[in-house]
Amino acid sequence: MKKTLEEHADRFSDIASDYDDSQDSEAYRACVSLVVHYADPSDDDTVLDLGTGTGAIALALAPDAKRVVGRDISEGMLEQARTKAAEVGIENVEFGEGRFRDPNVDDDEDIDIVVSNFAMHHLSDEEKREAIEVIADLEPERFVLGDVMFFGEPNPDEPFYSPEVDDPSTVGYLADALTDAGFVLTAVEAVHEQVGVLVAERAPPVDE
Ligand SMILES: C[S@@+](CC[C@H](N)C(=O)[O-])C[C@H]1O[C@@H](n2cnc3c(N)ncnc32)[C@H](O)[C@@H]1O
Repeated sequence: MKKTLEEHADRFSDIASDYDDSQDSEAYRACVSLVVHYADPSDDDTVLDLGTGTGAIALALAPDAKRVVGRDISEGMLEQARTKAAEVGIENVEFGEGRFRDPNVDDDEDIDIVVSNFAMHHLSDEEKREAIEVIADLEPERFVLGDVMFFGEPNPDEPFYSPEVDDPSTVGYLADALTDAGFVLTAVEAVHEQVGVLVAERAPPVDE
């Protein structure tokens, strides 16, 4: 991680009130649509959204899910998410503090689907691998990851990648980490040379 958790949290809290208006790129919108499309919860599914920010994904999924749990390190972003939920009367979503490697989910909460959009790239390669193992331990059916990731060579002149704060992985590294944690990669969507959506499903048990 290029900044501490506290630095990332403060950075996002500082921009929280303007965050939604600043997300006007086609690639960001495409990524949101794809994550929502592949998450595809039913009304008995509980969804965990890691790095939920102002709740773009969580609030889009809530009408179709039983419950959505949004976790983030930035209280400012979480406050925006809570305000938006109240404004539109969405009650089956809970926003609170939690990190990729410590999502702060109750032991008795069954998580069916994990999603994350434009957030995991703040972690280093090794930290992402640890986070993916924590996610796998929650035993979701599916993990849908939309994020900054490299399909080709890293290029700081292209949008979405600022080397001073971001630490994106290659698609290959993420695919390996997901399969090593027991997932099967069922879809890879390249939204941009530096943005993609990976869909990972829990591998079925092998017959003895
Ligand atoms: C670019 S925003 C994306 C927000 C939202 N998912 C979206 O699609 O609009 C990244 C979010 O990730 C959060 N974040 C960064 N590092 C995190 C971590 N280690 N654990 C949880 N959230 C983190 C930030 O606080 C920020 O709200």
